[in-house]
Amino acid sequence: MTTGILPLLTSRSSTYEYAERLVGDSDMMAVLEAARLSPSFLNLQPWEFILIKNNGMIKKLLEQAYYGVYHCNDYECRPPAIIAIVLKKKYYDGQYGYPRRDKPGIFEAHLSISMPAMNMILAAEERGLATCILNVNVPETGKLLGLSGGDIIPLIVCLGYARPGKKAAMKPRKSLESLLHYERYGGKK
Ligand SMILES: Cc1cc2nc3c(=O)[nH]c(=O)nc-3n(C[C@H](O)[C@H](O)[C@H](O)COP(=O)(O)O)c2cc1C
Repeated sequence: MTTGILPLLTSRSSTYEYAERLVGDSDMMAVLEAARLSPSFLNLQPWEFILIKNNGMIKKLLEQAYYGVYHCNDYECRPPAIIAIVLKKKYYDGQYGYPRRDKPGIFEAHLSISMPAMNMILAAEERGLATCILNVNVPETGKLLGLSGGDIIPLIVCLGYARPGKKAAMKPRKSLESLLHYERYGGKK
């Protein structure tokens, strides 16, 4: 059996259609632990996580999500669990980062929160779980989940098991040749 990260990276794909099977607690905790261990700008760890398993809330959250934008949006995305990534205001609004920027910290904070999203989807893939990362309507999602004081939820991660036959094949990627430059932009090997 091939082990390591590359097989996981090539088997993973975004899943939007889920089976009605719950995610076990130990798998859920492993996914969250992967999130906790993520790297971040200045090791600020600007995130907190909300685990949502309530069907009613999942439905409401998905009404605020932009799912299926690259497919026909004619199915219901109903994962058994969602992990919302909370970005605390103090990390994106001026307190940290480089002082010369208008909004110091905003880029670093947003870049940082993609790290736990990535760690979670890979830890989930390793456990045979299906996932997708979704952008959401930020103000509405914050209201639904009880945020205040400018804290925001820029991303949610859906978790579950793929509905049989609904695990997508990996989408095409650009060739490495088309992306890689040597020594300077435009440089050839
Ligand atoms: C930061 C981020 C935000 C995303 N937001 C959405 C989204 O709002 N709706 C959606 O359908 N997919 C979303 N996706 C999933 C991407 O569309 C998907 O990863 C991409 O098309 C590649 O497909 P794959 O994940 O199956 O490899 C998001 C992915 C990332 C990394």
